[in-house]
Amino acid sequence: MIYTLALNPAIDRTMWVGKMDFRTTTRVRRESRYPGGKGVDVSRVLTAMGISNVALGFVGGFVGEELECRLGYEGVRTDMIKVSGETRTNIIVNETSNGRHLLLTAKGPRVDPYELGTLFRKIENLSDPTMMAVGGSLPRGIHPDTYRRVITIMKRKGAITILDADGENLRSGIEACPDYIKPNRHEMSELVGRPLSTLDEFIQAAEEVRSWGVGTVLVSLGPDGMMLVADGQRYLASPPKVDVVNSVGLGDSAVAGFMYGLANRLDLKDCLIHGTAAGTATAMKHGTARANKDDVMKIVPMIDFKNLMEDEK
Ligand SMILES: Nc1ncnc2c1ncn2[C@@H]1O[C@H](COP(=O)(O)OP(=O)(O)OP(=O)(O)O)[C@@H](O)[C@H]1O
Ligand SMILES: [Mg+2]
Repeated sequence: MIYTLALNPAIDRTMWVGKMDFRTTTRVRRESRYPGGKGVDVSRVLTAMGISNVALGFVGGFVGEELECRLGYEGVRTDMIKVSGETRTNIIVNETSNGRHLLLTAKGPRVDPYELGTLFRKIENLSDPTMMAVGGSLPRGIHPDTYRRVITIMKRKGAITILDADGENLRSGIEACPDYIKPNRHEMSELVGRPLSTLDEFIQAAEEVRSWGVGTVLVSLGPDGMMLVADGQRYLASPPKVDVVNSVGLGDSAVAGFMYGLANRLDLKDCLIHGTAAGTATAMKHGTARANKDDVMKIVPMIDFKNLMEDEK
């Protein structure tokens, strides 16, 4: 079974307004509520692409109930641990007059040591893990070391591990030598501690991170697509120019598209193409809805693929 881990999932509440007015009442014209948070996003896109998976993580309070119900409604399987605090609600306000958006990411509940202990027991007892996506922010009360511990357990159990986190959480997760990491431009440059701008600089940085024990480094480059650096392989996949109507959850969709490739035993080139297409397909969907299989497959043939090793010859 494929698992995702969402330690701090959320409900993303999106509102559309003409223009925010700080002096008087701003009328909301439309709104939507979708499950959110990295692991949950990955599970939603995987499910919508026909890949069976289970979302693990913490939920609490009324919002936690809503989150699980919404996921169930979408056909996403969950095996969540109930915590005493309330699951967070993120607020996204889209100004239709100028296309700007405001994203307010809430902190989420504090998680107690016994609740974390329950999670580790669950993970230790998974009988059939083949792959796990780990990532996102950690709730209050959880040590940054947690990703390192989770990845260590999953690797011992023989699962492929994919880490998508930033800052301290990324650094500590890398100590467990995950099979894949998927930083974006900014996260990658923070990881190696220097500014990166050219493709060559990103490749050198990815090789450096691989020398720390990471199997394959995927760097998502926003509208420029995604780069892959693995043993003897350096690829770049670039999407077509599209109308972007949403900028939330693109990285998570890219991870899910890549995992779709792995689950279908595609080669790394095609995994990268599907990952890039999934990110782009989600950029074209309103609200914080995520891409489904049809959306992704429409983009796949439009992805421009480059083998960067051949360029070097
Ligand atoms: N403007 C865009 N046009 C087309 N595709 C895009 C655009 N921005 C992002 N994408 C697609 O989404 C993928 C992930 O984007 P990005 O690098 O912005 O991820 P991220 O910063 O991790 O996102 P997130 O904020 O969701 O974590 C890219 O590899 C690309 O395929
Ligand atoms: Mg990201």
